[in-house]
Amino acid sequence: MGSLEHLVECDKTEYANVNWDELGFALTKTDYMFVMNWCKDGEKFSEGVLTRFGNIELCPSSGILNYGQGLFEGLKAYRKEDERILLFRPEENALRMQMGADRMCMPSPTVQQFLDAVKKTVLANKRWVPPHGRGALYVRPLLMGTSPNLGVKPASEYTFLVYASPVGSYHKGPNLNLVVEDKTHRATPGGTGGVKAVINYSPVYKALSEAKAKGFTDVLFLDALTGKYIEEGSACNVFVLKENVISTPPAHGTILPGITRKSIIEIALTFGYQVEERAVPIEQVLDAEEVFCTGTAMVVRSVASITYKEKRIEYKMGAETVAQKLYATLTGIQTGLIEDKMGWTVAID
Ligand code: COI
Repeated sequence: MGSLEHLVECDKTEYANVNWDELGFALTKTDYMFVMNWCKDGEKFSEGVLTRFGNIELCPSSGILNYGQGLFEGLKAYRKEDERILLFRPEENALRMQMGADRMCMPSPTVQQFLDAVKKTVLANKRWVPPHGRGALYVRPLLMGTSPNLGVKPASEYTFLVYASPVGSYHKGPNLNLVVEDKTHRATPGGTGGVKAVINYSPVYKALSEAKAKGFTDVLFLDALTGKYIEEGSACNVFVLKENVISTPPAHGTILPGITRKSIIEIALTFGYQVEERAVPIEQVLDAEEVFCTGTAMVVRSVASITYKEKRIEYKMGAETVAQKLYATLTGIQTGLIEDKMGWTVAID
C-alpha cells in the first residue's frame, strides 16, 4: 500500500491504472474490503466496516483453516455506457449464501446486510470497475468460521468479508475443450455440492491439472453414483442443445444452483426454447448439436469439443449458435444495453 496522500489522490482518479484489455480471471488488488464479525455473545453480526484491502489475521486453529467451514459467493458489477454501475441479481447471491450457511451450520448475514456490504465494497472500489464492455468487477463475499476449533464442531465466531477484483474472461483461449472425468467426482449425494462451500473447489484440482497437462481447458464431471450422467465443470454449470431443446442437470444436491444457470433458463424460455432440467446421460451429450457452460465467472461459453474415453466430439460454434444468442441477451441486460424487463439489475450509484 502507498502513503495516505497517494491513496487519497488515487481515490480522486476516475479509473485505476489497469490494462483492461489484458484482464483474465486473476486477482488485481483493489482499495477496500468490507469486514463484519459475528460473535456468539451477541448472536448477531456487527455493523461492519470498510477497511483497506489487505491480509487478515486468523488463529491457526480456526474452523476455516482446519475444517474448511466456509462459503463464498461471486457476483459482478458492470459499468453501463453512461458510467452508472449495475449489479446483477445480488439478492440471489444473498439467498444462496443463507442456504449454504444452513448446510454448513453457520450464521448468515441477512439479505439486507449482504446487499449493503456488496454495494459499499463496489462503491469504495468504483475506479476498479472496468469501462463499459471491457470486463467487470468481480465481487467475492466470504463467510468463514474464525474461532479456535480443535475439535470437530461448528465455530463460535464468524467473519463475513467482501473483496473485489476487476476481471476479464475466465478461460482466455479461443476454444473451450472439455475432457470427461470418470475417476474423481466433484460432488456426492448428501454432500455439499449444492452449496457454495469452499471445500467443493480444491478437490477438482487434481482432475483439472491432469486435464490441462493434456491440453484440455476444463473437465466435465459425471455423477458419483452411476458415472452415467453429466454434472458440471470445475466451476460452471453445463447445458446441451439438441433440436431446439435445451437440457441441463437438475440442481438437486450435487449441482450448484448457479445464478447464471437460472437466468439462462429464464431467458431461453422467453425465446420459446423448451428447457428440461433432467438427468442428462453422457451419450446424449456426445450426440448434442451445442454444449455450453454458464457461471458468473464464465458467463456463457460455447464448448468446442468434449473428449470421452479418447473419442473427441466437436460442436457448433460461432455467431449463429443458441449459446451466442443467450450470451448476447444476458450480457446486454447485465451491462445496460438491453432493457431489463426482468428487474434483475440493481443500479448502485
Ligand atoms: C463463479 O462463477 O462465480 C464461481 O464461483 C466460479 C469460481 C470458482 C471461479
